[in-house]
Amino acid sequence: MSNSTEVKIYSDKKDVVKALAKEILKLSKSSEQNRFNILLSGGNTPTELFKRLSKKYAETIEWDRIHLWWGDERCVSPENENSNYKQAFDFLISQVPIPEANIHRIKGENEPDEEAMRYAGEIEQNLTFRGTNPVFDLVLLGLGEDGHTASIFPDELELFEDERICAVATHPLSGQKRITITGKVLNNANRVFFLVTGAGKSQRLSEIMNDEDAAKLLPAYYISPTNGNLIWYIDEAAAQKIK
Ligand code: 6PG
Repeated sequence: MSNSTEVKIYSDKKDVVKALAKEILKLSKSSEQNRFNILLSGGNTPTELFKRLSKKYAETIEWDRIHLWWGDERCVSPENENSNYKQAFDFLISQVPIPEANIHRIKGENEPDEEAMRYAGEIEQNLTFRGTNPVFDLVLLGLGEDGHTASIFPDELELFEDERICAVATHPLSGQKRITITGKVLNNANRVFFLVTGAGKSQRLSEIMNDEDAAKLLPAYYISPTNGNLIWYIDEAAAQKIK
């Protein structure tokens, strides 16, 4: 785990999301660049964050400067309930005045290998580079109960060091194909925020924070931004086993 890690613990999910949304507002205002590139995570946890951003900051965040990207996507159509894009569209994109050109979705309906290459190309064309990797201003990540993050699963840990920007991953239980941003890009971000809530994540979180032998098997353990800070936004339920 990165030594510049900060852990922010809040009483419940609502308070975590309030704090994180406020930080995103602050970051978006403080950025001198004319665009702020945010990499969104998928799964269920971000839904409350999207709702908070829509409800509270639809008029205060300068959405024309915000560009939304995805850290991973299921290889399904954008209308599918499993789509990370659909979740963001329903609860955020459709609720705020963000220009369509600022939405850079992974096209889950495309052939996976082709889409991994296409999306990598879109990232290369739009982001600045630090060294050989593109730089996201903010990467939002979730934590799977198996310790995965983005769609880098424990049985595909090699994707963390994959030379490419995007790769095709396979969910270990469902076999569902996914497109994921690789670890070297995630770790090249200016800042990485994990949003982790609920007792179901407490075991993995305690391993990542306190048990290096167990954590070494978990992709999320290797998130350690080389040029930025890592902050864990968690609630007490998820933090309950941390020493
Ligand atoms: C995805 C995510 C994945 C997610 C974790 C946590 O596409 O599923 O990007 O990395 O963040 O699985 O998911 P929950 O928030 O649903 O627990």
